Amino acid sequence: MGSMSAVVVAVLCAFAMHAGLLVTNAQLSPTFYNETCPTLNDIVFNVVSNASLTDPRIGASLLRLHFHDCFVQGCDGSVLLNNTDTIQSEQDAIPNLNSLRGLDVVNNIKTAVEDSCPETVSCADILAIAAEVGSVLGGGPSWDVLLGRRDSLNASQALANTSLPAPFFTIDQLNASFAAQGLNLTDLVTLSGAHTFGRARCSTFINRLYSFNNTGNPDPTLNTTYLATLQAICPQNATVDNITNLDLTTPDQFDNNYYSNLQQLNGLLQSDQELFSTTGADTVPLVNSFSADQTAFFANFVVSMIKMGNIGVLTGTDGEIRTQCNFVNANSSATLLLAGVASKVNLVAQSK
Ligand code: HEM
Ligand SMILES: *[C@@H]1O[C@H](CO)[C@@H](O)[C@H](O)[C@H]1NC(C)=O
Ligand SMILES: *[C@@H]1O[C@H](CO)[C@@H](O)[C@H](O)[C@H]1NC(C)=O
Ligand SMILES: *[C@@H]1O[C@H](CO)[C@@H](O)[C@H](O)[C@H]1NC(C)=O
Ligand SMILES: *[C@@H]1O[C@H](CO)[C@@H](O)[C@H](O)[C@H]1NC(C)=O
Ligand SMILES: *[C@@H]1O[C@H](CO)[C@@H](O)[C@H](O)[C@H]1NC(C)=O
Ligand SMILES: *[C@@H]1O[C@H](CO)[C@@H](O)[C@H](O)[C@H]1NC(C)=O
Ligand SMILES: *[C@@H]1O[C@H](CO)[C@@H](O)[C@H](O)[C@H]1NC(C)=O
Ligand SMILES: *[C@@H]1O[C@H](CO)[C@@H](O)[C@H](O)[C@H]1NC(C)=O
Ligand SMILES: *[C@@H]1O[C@H](CO)[C@@H](O)[C@H](O)[C@H]1NC(C)=O
Ligand SMILES: *[C@@H]1O[C@H](CO)[C@@H](O)[C@H](O)[C@H]1NC(C)=O
Ligand SMILES: *[C@@H]1O[C@H](CO)[C@@H](O)[C@H](O)[C@H]1NC(C)=O
Ligand SMILES: *[C@@H]1O[C@H](CO)[C@@H](O)[C@H](O)[C@H]1NC(C)=O
Repeated sequence: MGSMSAVVVAVLCAFAMHAGLLVTNAQLSPTFYNETCPTLNDIVFNVVSNASLTDPRIGASLLRLHFHDCFVQGCDGSVLLNNTDTIQSEQDAIPNLNSLRGLDVVNNIKTAVEDSCPETVSCADILAIAAEVGSVLGGGPSWDVLLGRRDSLNASQALANTSLPAPFFTIDQLNASFAAQGLNLTDLVTLSGAHTFGRARCSTFINRLYSFNNTGNPDPTLNTTYLATLQAICPQNATVDNITNLDLTTPDQFDNNYYSNLQQLNGLLQSDQELFSTTGADTVPLVNSFSADQTAFFANFVVSMIKMGNIGVLTGTDGEIRTQCNFVNANSSATLLLAGVASKVNLVAQSK
């Protein structure tokens, strides 16, 4: 290699490394809205805690909404976008259909935030704060939510179909799903602990109740007492998709009972029980340690939530601050830019 090209390569490498550092570090901050929306956290807390008075499940639903946002092209509010001529909503993807809750509460938060701080706070950041408030209202940990995300200009129903883990996934499939987001097995076990509150529909675990994996028998890793309870809630060939608590002991509390449930074969979803019942898996000792130590679970949960909240975020001048979370801004800069480019192309074409 000639010395000149070696220098060029070195400079390019240094630039790439610098750019890489910017991508991973120079982004979100807990004080992002300190000057521009100092009451943001209080506004979100007030709307969500008010909603929780009539809907004790809302904190869980909002936490899940942030997860379903982050795993699909990053934490960019894409899950909130409704169907339009150009958007195929993620809300209609298999993991979300008839399952997402809290979209109306997010809109109520946004309305209250726009009242105090117009055109300033992204919907993606509102989801991140609402998830933390959901944890706190359930008695779980609080943390300084990193902020400064911007909202996407599009959505991907295709990615929502493929990137979100399914409740019938094995440990290897769960590991692969999380690894694709830069999350490891510790994050998997920790974040699955969110199933310490909230509900699930029969359709998400009925595969375990009657003929698991085409064996003609129930899932052998399901506690037989719990099995009988669940079979009563979810009869075969039922016409109604009943719901039940993800945590049979403390349904609305954010605590570490999720892990002691797993130790007693009382995990609701196959994806939950796999973490403890897969012989020799690296997840088993983690389940045992979180079951024994709620403080350790909470500390890990904060770390993994912040890690998840950093996935694929848009910052700086990327994306936009939506004024209504269900729609991209009319005539946003991107739309104008595209329209402008298109008309210039047309003019050039016409002038030739
Ligand atoms: C590990 C892979 C995961 C799978 C397979 C999974 C699957 C599911 C399923 C099937 C439901 C029930 C949905 C319904 O029936 O409508 C559910 C509920 C829930 N999930 Fe997960 N989940 C996973 C990870 C997570 C993570 C990482 C979080 C958050 C950090 C989370 C938070 C929740 C919450 C809070 C609920 C209850 C929501 C409500 O009551 O509205 N889950 N999950
Ligand atoms: C932002 O506000 C918080 C809480 O009021 C305060 O602790 C922090 O010092 C402020 N940070 C900046 C950079 O202003
Ligand atoms: C509080 O919740 C009730 C419904 O439960 C709603 O009608 C009301 O507008 C909410 N108030 C605020 C300030 O969010
Ligand atoms: C967005 O779609 C949801 C259904 O997914 C609907 O309930 C809601 O009213 C729509 N929002 C708006 C602002 O049209
Ligand atoms: C959404 O926009 C991003 C950024 O412009 C782009 O990379 C991605 O391919 C788009 N996704 C869809 C489904 O159009
Ligand atoms: C997502 O899955 C649903 C249900 O299978 C299907 O109807 C829809 O076409 C899928 N969407 C995309 C974009 O692949
Ligand atoms: C989890 O997935 C990662 C990435 O694909 C892989 O390197 C690792 O070996 C997997 N771990 C286990 C325990 O399967
Ligand atoms: C399902 O059965 C197949 C063999 O038919 C087996 O390889 C696989 O491990 C089973 N899956 C579970 C989750 O038990
Ligand atoms: C459920 O439906 C299947 C066929 O669709 C039938 O073989 C089975 O007996 C039914 N089970 C019950 C409990 O009705
Ligand atoms: C579940 O749904 C069935 C109908 O499919 C209903 O008869 C039953 O009462 C429901 N059970 C519970 C516990 O909600
Ligand atoms: C099944 O669950 C009950 C509590 O609900 C527990 O006492 C029992 O030990 C569990 N059985 C097994 C095999 O873990
Ligand atoms: C997994 O991620 C956590 C942070 O969420 C980190 O502390 C831990 O070292 C990672 N584990 C491995 C094996 O990389
Ligand atoms: C967006 O621009 C189009 C064309 O210039 C115009 O017809 C429409 O009213 C604008 N919409 C909004 C919300 O400003």
